[in-house]
Amino acid sequence: MGLLSEGINEVIATTRFNAAPMGITCRDDSMKMALFTGSHTAQNIGRERWVVANIVHDPVIYVTTAFSDLPHDAFLPVTVNGREMHRLAQADAWLAFDVVIEHRGTESMTVRLSSLHEETISSTVRPVNRGFNSIIDATIHATRYSISRDPELKKLIDYHAGIVRRCGGKRELAALELLMKYIE
Ligand SMILES: Cc1cc2nc3c(=O)[nH]c(=O)nc-3n(C[C@H](O)[C@H](O)[C@H](O)COP(=O)(O)O)c2cc1C
Repeated sequence: MGLLSEGINEVIATTRFNAAPMGITCRDDSMKMALFTGSHTAQNIGRERWVVANIVHDPVIYVTTAFSDLPHDAFLPVTVNGREMHRLAQADAWLAFDVVIEHRGTESMTVRLSSLHEETISSTVRPVNRGFNSIIDATIHATRYSISRDPELKKLIDYHAGIVRRCGGKRELAALELLMKYIE
């Protein structure tokens, strides 16, 4: 499991010149991702069979990559076991995985990950911040809300926005402003 912990790790998954927040579930020594087949991440993984998990603590990156694309210079090519992979240039740590597709349906697919390499670049200690955590929650709800416009999801987003305003720092507030623009 290395740098990841038991449970669901919300990372920024990078594939070829693409980044998106994704969950990696670690349980009983197995690591898996469940992907909606419509995403670029799922399409790239299906084609190239690798993914990099980037650990970052910038809330703006979570919101940006959930709703849009990063420029090419945000990615750093790395060679892992003879294969070129792309990690985020500003990752605090990154883990490269080989991917085996376990199940592929019309709407979703499940993949199993095997760790190939991991590197910690910055080991800065980060105290728990509810504002950051609520940006993650609000962004998950917002990705669904942007498709369904379900008012119940909007209530959840507004609840988390309240926590971000109370507990977040400047980056969380900037991430929230961006998030609200994406779902306008
Ligand atoms: C914290 C977080 C976790 C997410 N986890 C997943 C996931 O595990 N699987 C998935 O398919 N989408 C997940 N999403 C939604 C994708 O990030 C979103 O659909 C994104 O637009 C996909 O981008 P892509 O098309 O560049 O891959 C998550 C979103 C957030 C904010």
